[in-house]
Amino acid sequence: MAILVTGGAGYIGSHTVVELLNQDHEVVIVDDFSNAHPTVLDRIKELSGKDFSFYELNLLDKEGLEKVFEENEIEAVIHFAGFKAVGESVEKPLKYYHNNITGTLVLLEVMKAFNVKKIVFSSSATVYGMDNKAPFTEDMPTSATNPYGQTKVFIEHILSDLVVSDEEWSVILLRYFNPIGAHESGRIGEDPNDVPNNLMPYITQVAVGKLEQLSIFGDDYETHDGTGVRDYIHVLDLAQGHLSALDYALKHSGVEAVNLGTGEGYSVLDVVHAFENANDVEIPYEIVDRRPGDIAVGYADATKAKELLGWEAVHSLEDMCRTSWNWQKNNPNGYEE
Ligand code: UFG
Repeated sequence: MAILVTGGAGYIGSHTVVELLNQDHEVVIVDDFSNAHPTVLDRIKELSGKDFSFYELNLLDKEGLEKVFEENEIEAVIHFAGFKAVGESVEKPLKYYHNNITGTLVLLEVMKAFNVKKIVFSSSATVYGMDNKAPFTEDMPTSATNPYGQTKVFIEHILSDLVVSDEEWSVILLRYFNPIGAHESGRIGEDPNDVPNNLMPYITQVAVGKLEQLSIFGDDYETHDGTGVRDYIHVLDLAQGHLSALDYALKHSGVEAVNLGTGEGYSVLDVVHAFENANDVEIPYEIVDRRPGDIAVGYADATKAKELLGWEAVHSLEDMCRTSWNWQKNNPNGYEE
């Protein structure tokens, strides 16, 4: 029996696939390379020493997806595939709603038709919206301020409704906080298509000389140094979280939302300084205006993941900074030769 991983060539997907293969799971990856590079597949093989099936496919291609289910005995799905750039989602809402929501609907229809009813979904801490106060617990009301975030909120509802309609479904909604870091080997890591939107890839591109300096979005938040506070989590911890969630989903039915975070908050300046110290490089920065839609403080209450899944994050911020830099330094242009 195989685990289908949608978006398995992406940043979090690729790290999770390596762990799945390391734990002897059979893996089928579906990815359309819209935000991933084919080279990652070779690197996954190299790191795991194992093979897997791969289909270049967008989830909107229902016939293609049916073929995947016909040709493989799928036991459960880990669903990463989706567009994720907040700013772009504001400019192109239809693109985001169509790809993320319709893509998920097609996936669920095909799963249902093939009687596969176990799914681990990549949700986001973005569903905690602007009004909840950290630490965020899974029972807090959800909302979103941009189309990307709305797709996460809607898909959480869709999956929850599915469980109400048929109690055989087993759904885990994993709410990621801020994934950074890379595989220890430096062979796989985050490879943004364009100028990075997120903090860590921006920092590593400044460090490698591709970008001149970091712009820090606001230093007048109510935090210990005025810059925004987030819960940064090592992508390898996140990958392990998926394996724990998968184990749980295979043994239970129903729906559970679970935070994947460390429970600890660091400011932008904390991260900049941790990066400088861990790697002995300097990150020039300037303070600019706040970025619209940013919250001051967001971090997880990580209790539920530990109690329900037996999972907790083990990597330090220093690990995250060191491995992010190791990846960027060894692959200054990402997967592009
Ligand atoms: N930041 C900067 N400069 C940058 C980039 C980010 O100062 O160039 C700051 C942000 O203002 C924020 C912190 O760094 O305080 C983290 O920003 P990221 O963009 O890395 O992460 P976000 O917390 O904004 O975004 C993450 C995920 C999104 C998700 C969002 C909401 O990447 O997918 O959390 O929870 F929607």
